[in-house]
Amino acid sequence: MRELGIIRHGAMIVEDGILRATGTRTEIEPLIPREAEVLDAGGRVILPGFVDAHTHAVFAGHRANEFEMRIAGASYQEIAASGGGIRSTVRLTRAATEDELFQSASHRLPWFLAGGTTTLEIKSGYGLSLEDECKMLRVIRRLRESTPLDIVATFLGAHEVPDEYRHAPQEYLRVVIEEMIPTVARENLAEYCDVFCEDHVFTVEQAREVLTAARRHGLRARVHADQLANTGGAAMAAQVGAATADHLEHIDDDGIAALGDSEVQPILLPASVYALGLRRYPPARQMIDAELAVVVASDFNPGSSPVPSMPLIISLACTQMRMTPAEAITAATVNAAHSLDRSKETGSLEPGKYANFTIFDAADYREIAYWAGAPLTWRVYIRGRLTYRAGLAM
Ligand code: NIG
Ligand code: FE
Repeated sequence: MRELGIIRHGAMIVEDGILRATGTRTEIEPLIPREAEVLDAGGRVILPGFVDAHTHAVFAGHRANEFEMRIAGASYQEIAASGGGIRSTVRLTRAATEDELFQSASHRLPWFLAGGTTTLEIKSGYGLSLEDECKMLRVIRRLRESTPLDIVATFLGAHEVPDEYRHAPQEYLRVVIEEMIPTVARENLAEYCDVFCEDHVFTVEQAREVLTAARRHGLRARVHADQLANTGGAAMAAQVGAATADHLEHIDDDGIAALGDSEVQPILLPASVYALGLRRYPPARQMIDAELAVVVASDFNPGSSPVPSMPLIISLACTQMRMTPAEAITAATVNAAHSLDRSKETGSLEPGKYANFTIFDAADYREIAYWAGAPLTWRVYIRGRLTYRAGLAM
């Protein structure tokens, strides 16, 4: 994870949205076709576009009120137990039309681009009924079709037990398994299925049931596991052959060993620890020492992580989880692309992949982690097309 394969005085050739060649400027110059347009990056750092492999970027409203309640001492779980949290966003999302959700999510997509993200995973999970989950997934599909970002959809019907099933959670799971999953799969609305496996939400056994049903319908698993307590979610993810186990703030040695014996990639979400004002970050160093292909992502959502910026995630990975800047960049690019089955297309600057790259106003890649919160993104290209450029300042 520490080997970035840096090319100093580098250059590359892009044609029809695909990277054709990379190398030093001296190697590349003779290969430049005469009619080519030449862009001089002025000695700036160029990285593969960030792949944000865990977000909840479609929702209505916001929860700045809960943010303030937490500052005053309430916990995320207390707010959820009193009817707030995920369920409050569910009420607003149900009340919103498909167009309204599309508009509000579209309005936020430039926030991701401004951090250099070019691929975005987005989960449903604020509908919690067949109709409203499908509405969210259709919004995600529209975003994919109408914006330049590469967008991957995940069905998260088992994100919370909705108000009307509060006293019959098992009945809600039947709806997820017997109605939602088959419909989502038939209408091709998602590639992955996720579950919030946590104390007071869904147990390991319930999560296993959902993910096993999803696999029968061709949806691969991602799991919210061991976030607020250790419930053995990571080991379950390994047993069901999940693509990823996400969060893992409370994973233990057995959980890490289980991931080590599997192909499951850990996705670490430091901004959700930061924004909840918690102290316990996932043990990234132990996972890297166990040779796990660690991913970092934003977890962007209106509750636990109102943070869309991958450079800030990378900074937190360094300062709070002691990953090196190189490890954090690997975790945000090529490892993240692999976790979404996109590593043949994106995640690194290699000939044959999409020309998804970001130019940073920096001469050393470590500056991206170091100037925390500074707007270093200078240009973003997706499939060879300029998609974002830094704005004017007077
Ligand atoms: O990844 N933990 C569950 N889901 C989200 C939070 C969603 C919300 O609070 O709206 C997470 O942290
Ligand atoms: Fe999440």
